Amino acid sequence: MSDVRRIITTQQAPHEQLEKTVLNHLDNAWQKPIADHTLRTFEATQSWLSKRSGDLILDSCCGDGESTRWLAKNNPEAVIIGLDKSETRLNRNSEADLTDNYRLVRADVNDFWRLAINAAWQPKKHCLLFPNPYPKPSQLNNRWYGSPAFPALVDLGGNLEVRTNWDIYITEFARSLLIVGKHPIVTRYYPEPCITAFERKYHNDGQELWRLNCRLS
Ligand SMILES: C[S@@+](CC[C@H](N)C(=O)[O-])C[C@H]1O[C@@H](n2cnc3c(N)ncnc32)[C@H](O)[C@@H]1O
Repeated sequence: MSDVRRIITTQQAPHEQLEKTVLNHLDNAWQKPIADHTLRTFEATQSWLSKRSGDLILDSCCGDGESTRWLAKNNPEAVIIGLDKSETRLNRNSEADLTDNYRLVRADVNDFWRLAINAAWQPKKHCLLFPNPYPKPSQLNNRWYGSPAFPALVDLGGNLEVRTNWDIYITEFARSLLIVGKHPIVTRYYPEPCITAFERKYHNDGQELWRLNCRLS
């Protein structure tokens, strides 16, 4: 039997509170203060970025940064920033640097996205690959589109790409973007190649994979 975790949930359809939750976060500006350490990390990243030119690609929740390195190698003219809050995951990256057009940054994106908006960052592309699904119905507020960070994710702009192994997650993400007037496209896809650890794990297990693309700005 496979030891790869499939989505286990009692939620079999889009959440009935989805629209209300998204609208609630749109109507109420998020007051959570920005952590000092994230502000310092942002300033250091901004300084690194200011010495480089090229389109900016964000790889939020990048885990060990495999996708960040893949993006860097395949977009040599662009600058890539991989963000993850887990030092442990970021440190799993033991590969030698093949290019110098990327940086892996330990930061909570809840704060980092808002700082990037304030600093007028304009990413060309924003990847969110295999975010934690929080599959229990009670966890809707933890999913990115159900969280108070969703308006910032939308405002940050760029061409958003989300990947997941949970069809309901991608359906809910798409509905949330429709609520804010965007036009997402959802497809089932086969990775060629796999560019993240989670994508490889699910793909090798024969699970269906879903992708959402949406122009935010
Ligand atoms: C399921 S893993 C996916 C990692 C990688 N994208 C992949 O596909 O292999 C989700 C990642 O999101 C990160 N994460 C969750 N919440 C975060 C936050 N608020 N800020 C930054 N990273 C976060 C976790 O640390 C974890 O590495």
